[in-house]
Amino acid sequence: MPAGQREDDLTFQVENEASQYIPFPLDEVDLDFQVTRPVPDNPEEVEVLIAASRKEKVEDRVATALAAGLKTAIMDVEPYAAQTAFELTLRQLPGGGEDQVIALVDIGATIMKINVLLNGESLYTRDQPFGGNQLTQEIHNQFNLSLEDSETAKKGGNLPENYKMDVLQPFCETLAIEVMRAIQFFYTSTQYTEVNYIFIAGGCAVIPGLDAIIASRTQVSTLIVNPFSTMELSSRVIPRQLNLDAPSLLIACGLALRSFDPS
Ligand SMILES: Nc1ncnc2c1ncn2[C@@H]1O[C@H](COP(=O)(O)OP(=O)(O)OP(=O)(O)O)[C@@H](O)[C@H]1O
Ligand SMILES: [Mg+2]
Repeated sequence: MPAGQREDDLTFQVENEASQYIPFPLDEVDLDFQVTRPVPDNPEEVEVLIAASRKEKVEDRVATALAAGLKTAIMDVEPYAAQTAFELTLRQLPGGGEDQVIALVDIGATIMKINVLLNGESLYTRDQPFGGNQLTQEIHNQFNLSLEDSETAKKGGNLPENYKMDVLQPFCETLAIEVMRAIQFFYTSTQYTEVNYIFIAGGCAVIPGLDAIIASRTQVSTLIVNPFSTMELSSRVIPRQLNLDAPSLLIACGLALRSFDPS
């Protein structure tokens, strides 16, 4: 966008241009934007970041908050919230992670999200439809348990002896290959040729041995994300339980850390 525009002119122009980037009619979408920086080598223009979501997705979340007795003040996008908390986790690295190319891999129930970052800026993102539900499903298929019991058994670790070899190991291998593939895509679509660390987040991060398998497949050092590692804990928090939950609380932690203009 041209630099130095009045706020409402800019808003008008962004909304006009946004439709070409958003695959839905604009009246079905909530939209916000932010001027990020001047265009390199062109002081006449600024780069603008657009965040957009289907209105129904926003309304679902506002309704969920309301049902919990909370009022929604702000809506953020998962990768940005994760990035805010990620900056805290950099303290886990020597030198605070400066000049290190870090792949943040969030492995949830259904989606694996990869965000490659350098000095606080995202270089590359990619989502893959793969997550912990696959492991639950496999337990369900192999051991004649309901899906609900499979989920509980997976977290409790009380499964037949052949679970590790026949189910867990192949799942971890497949996951590591997915991570490796994503990193290959990062290399082929950017100028970068090295990743220095893989940070693992999301509920699957605590699967025993997963970090080691990813490290050996990719030949990159791995670290399980803990956004609370440098925080003081209330006496009401059980540290062992928090450590298990910490990697899946990255986004919640990022939301809690961000600021906003009260209105
Ligand atoms: N202790 C554990 N051992 C194994 N798997 C676990 C453990 N705790 C959570 N998980 C798995 O992590 C997944 C949930 O992770 P997370 O909370 O990050 O997902 P989500 O953000 O809700 O899902 P998505 O990002 O895919 O939409 C589930 O598949 C769950 O079974
Ligand atoms: Mg998630």
